[in-house]
Amino acid sequence: MVRIRHVALAAALLPASAMAGEPKLPAPVTAQDYRPVNLDEAKLGQLLFYDPVISGNRNIACDTCHNPRLATSDGVSLDIGEGGIGLGPDRHPGKTDIPQQRIARNAPALFNLGAKSFTIMFDDGRIEEDHTRPSGLRTPMEDAMVKGFASVLSAQAMFPVLAQDEMAGNDSENDIAKLVRKGQITGPGGAWEAIAARVSAIPAYREMFAKVYPSIAQGKQIAFTDISNAIAAFVSYEWRSDDSPFDKYLRHQGTLPAEAMAGMKLFYGRGECSTCHSGPFQTDNKFHAMGEPQLGPGKTPRFELNQRDIGRFRVSNNPADLYAFRTPSLRNVTETGPWGHAGAHVDLKEFIRYHADPVAGAKTYKPQAIFPKGYVAEKPDWEIWNDPAERKAILAQVKAKPVKLSDADVNAIYAFLQTLKDPVALDGRLGVPASVPSRLPVDTPVKY
Ligand code: HEC
Ligand code: HEC
Repeated sequence: MVRIRHVALAAALLPASAMAGEPKLPAPVTAQDYRPVNLDEAKLGQLLFYDPVISGNRNIACDTCHNPRLATSDGVSLDIGEGGIGLGPDRHPGKTDIPQQRIARNAPALFNLGAKSFTIMFDDGRIEEDHTRPSGLRTPMEDAMVKGFASVLSAQAMFPVLAQDEMAGNDSENDIAKLVRKGQITGPGGAWEAIAARVSAIPAYREMFAKVYPSIAQGKQIAFTDISNAIAAFVSYEWRSDDSPFDKYLRHQGTLPAEAMAGMKLFYGRGECSTCHSGPFQTDNKFHAMGEPQLGPGKTPRFELNQRDIGRFRVSNNPADLYAFRTPSLRNVTETGPWGHAGAHVDLKEFIRYHADPVAGAKTYKPQAIFPKGYVAEKPDWEIWNDPAERKAILAQVKAKPVKLSDADVNAIYAFLQTLKDPVALDGRLGVPASVPSRLPVDTPVKY
């Protein structure tokens, strides 16, 4: 009798999820989870990441949208790309002839992309490791894809530099955008060669490239793949994130606050989060339709006039992938808002409530976004979401079964997500350079 009462009391003190047994947690992250990094290569990549010289009009760098002060994102739902001035919510259009299209998706954070398990990039996975192809990659460029990208992360860098709205600019404005417009990308006289020529015209860069790559020391021209390989080395080194309280807990080097423990049990148990946010980086790297609201210009080919973002379907052509997006890693996620592929949630707790049951969430969702100052939409931002048929199509694809979360559950999950915050990665290891070899201004104020 006494013993039974004791058990009942103990159970009452535990969160409900613990009664179903201990949750299955991922293995701690180890050095073997990452591709090796050459520190000199990373230091070269640091300068290129912050140097606007690789953009068509020499006015935007990678850090404009992936800023270390904003947790390697930009603090806004959808950004103004090429032609804008300033950073994050303070960014504004600098002149009137900015490219026709605004950025269609929320800029993602860049943590842990040097880990071997990230073999597929972008919300729709349009670039992927594929060892059956001569380049080792599957990309929208198909067979024109060149060899020499050291990793899928390196190959990713070819996209922003060629995108008119991100870094290339208007074709009336500069040599690189002109080549992009004419479809001259690879080979002699192409856009990549033009970008590489700008970099190799700067003696300080030539010296550093020769130090890092023996073939360049022996006389090979600097190629775009050398530039992107260095940038990838930097991203891998700078934002490796495996030192959060949760990492320490998994290594038996620390404890977590009680509320975060309850949230962890929900995350890996009754909350079902880990069915998709699985593994050491809280992602299965697969695609799921989660009914996230869409705003903005949409991700459509230029000849299509609608503003839809149909997600993975555009890559796979498989109807099961309509409105499906890649499961994002949740490292430092409390710092990377707004959330969702178009930044349609400005409050993380509200996001979690919605995400656990999108069909119910959509009934009370109020359109919300953070835009850069002076942001002007050329078409109404909420056109798709406000159309009942479009919204129905987005929600009809949700396959995850709804999960009921109380306010206390949401608070606990939020407390758990805070334990994924890693001060080492958020600070960065090399930091922001005081200046870059092109002598063009670096956007970010120096932190150190
Ligand atoms: C104008 C803003 C902008 C600039 C400039 C920019 N990016 Fe991005 N970046 C984005 C957006 C938006 C996405 C997501 C696009 C998508 O998924 O379709 C993205 C995606 C990425 C990804 C993929 C992350 C993942 O998990 O899939 C990487 C890596 C990346 N950018 C690195 C870079 C690098 C390196 C540069 C400079 C060469 C750069 N970006 C310049 C906005 C920008
Ligand atoms: C069926 C798969 C699935 C389940 C289950 C799931 N997620 Fe997600 N999660 C995703 C996908 C896919 C996205 C990206 C959705 C989008 O933007 O369209 C996402 C996005 C997120 C984001 C936003 C990240 C960002 O950077 O914008 C957070 C936070 C998140 N999930 C937390 C959770 C939590 C907490 C749970 C459990 C209550 C959960 N997820 C359950 C697949 C899932």
